[in-house]
Amino acid sequence: MKIGILFVCLGNICRSPMAEAIFRSLVQELEIEDQFDIDSAGTGDWHIGDGPHQGTVQKLAEHNISTEGMYSRQLRLEDYDRFDYIVCMDNSNIENALPMLGQPESSKVFRLLDLLKDPKDVPDPYFTGDFEETYQLCVEGCKALLQKIKEDGGSHS
Ligand code: 4NP
Repeated sequence: MKIGILFVCLGNICRSPMAEAIFRSLVQELEIEDQFDIDSAGTGDWHIGDGPHQGTVQKLAEHNISTEGMYSRQLRLEDYDRFDYIVCMDNSNIENALPMLGQPESSKVFRLLDLLKDPKDVPDPYFTGDFEETYQLCVEGCKALLQKIKEDGGSHS
């Protein structure tokens, strides 16, 4: 059984595709990608079928991370059973996601940066324009997420 990880934001074009691509690249470097089912989704429906935002594409390209084949999709009820970790970018994503997942609350659903010593939201670069900040925070969060999965007994490497 693969470990399912779903990254969630509002539009699924800036932050959650950034985190998805960074996490995938992290586990590819460690040659443990076969252990994971990694995806991302948005709570909003405005960008369904669109590729990631140009700011996300460019920032990832600077780090030789490809976004090829990535398209925005909306979060759906079935995601709750498919994924073990439903990793949101900010508190409003959690508020929006829980009812869409049919859950009043769930320990599967948390913020990426809840895993840091100083828990916080990933600010939305769609509004701030700061994709470098998003990249740095997603790298930090993804490393902490992989560590948590190992501590939970999930990943073997
Ligand atoms: P994201 O950013 O949630 O990080 O993908 C946004 C992208 C699009 C919109 C809002 C946030 N929008 O309103 O279209």
